[in-house]
Amino acid sequence: MPIYHKLGEFPAKRHTQFRNTEGILYNEELFGTIGFDGMSSLMYHIHRPTMVKEVLSETEVAPKIAIEKSIKSRLLKGFEIDSVDDFLDSRKAILVNNDLHISLAAPCQSMKTYFYKNADADELLFVHKGSGTLKTPIGSIKFEPGDYLIIPRGTIYQIHFNSKENKIFLVESFSPIYTPKRYRNYFGQLQEHSPFCERDYKLPENLETYDLQGDFIIKIKKEGILYEMLYPNHPFDVIGWDGYNFPYGFSIHNFEPITGRIHQPPPVHQTFETKAFVVCSFCPRMYDYHPLSIPAPYNHSNIDSDEVIYYVDGDFMSRNNIEQGHITLHPGGIPHGPAPGAYERSIGQTFTQELAVMVDTFRPLKITEDALKIDDGKYFKSWL
Ligand SMILES: [Fe+2]
Repeated sequence: MPIYHKLGEFPAKRHTQFRNTEGILYNEELFGTIGFDGMSSLMYHIHRPTMVKEVLSETEVAPKIAIEKSIKSRLLKGFEIDSVDDFLDSRKAILVNNDLHISLAAPCQSMKTYFYKNADADELLFVHKGSGTLKTPIGSIKFEPGDYLIIPRGTIYQIHFNSKENKIFLVESFSPIYTPKRYRNYFGQLQEHSPFCERDYKLPENLETYDLQGDFIIKIKKEGILYEMLYPNHPFDVIGWDGYNFPYGFSIHNFEPITGRIHQPPPVHQTFETKAFVVCSFCPRMYDYHPLSIPAPYNHSNIDSDEVIYYVDGDFMSRNNIEQGHITLHPGGIPHGPAPGAYERSIGQTFTQELAVMVDTFRPLKITEDALKIDDGKYFKSWL
């Protein structure tokens, strides 16, 4: 997160003595990525964050691959993923490779009895339906439909929902998730041509500090195993912190579309980047306004990337029979384009209400068993 943020109390000088009113030292922790080279925060715990009571269990949670290699375009009916009470159990990986796991989740209950940490991956949660609060040791973020939540690897969190009806599109990224570099200046500030700016971010707030002893479970995901670890203190014992490495939110509704006289390519919709994939937001916008423009996209060969589109809302002009929660996968190596009729149908239209999230991966995706359960099986012939 390329802006500085701080909450609570911390010493005037880093790495110096910082004591409570009884003279007991707080425990400083550097929370950083890419060794000591990436973004980091300094947090101050009441108790040592290193105290482990026990490793209670290890559970295999790696995605089950059904198809390693495929050249078929696919349509997955995302809302047919089962609703499951528990947040972690509800997460069903559908499209994966060594760079990222794309999952769907329809959790019904808040996390109350344990905490969670992904040790391997930054998590991007796109909240399609539902609202609530992301709670972390360094503050909370309230979320609502349309919010992206970016949670850096290693962040301990709990997610609390306001109701049972929740639908989340989730990406776990094994490299850090950043905003596009071309929109940031030398100092990291988002520039004037960026479709969003720092003011749009939802930053952690309301730091709550708990000095509680007992049995606290943190479920830690690492290399396809979920470890249930027992800690003697409440993990939200941070009295203050500052730095650059922290979770944040961004509403897709705050993305200001870039439009033109003729069709603008997908990079104008880009919202996030990693070294292995990009995330784009397709938002309601004016269509192209050249008198002879064709608003529907041209056929295109994404020769060296797989394209995943998650349809959120509105009428997606380039497709037929697309519903909320549907996902299309257009694999690299073959062209795809507007559905039959969509090219002509788009001419003369002036505005689109479409809302969708696109993930373009630089390496091919594998299809999981859970994906096959919601695969319509015939989409690859839909251009005939
Ligand atoms: Fe495409």
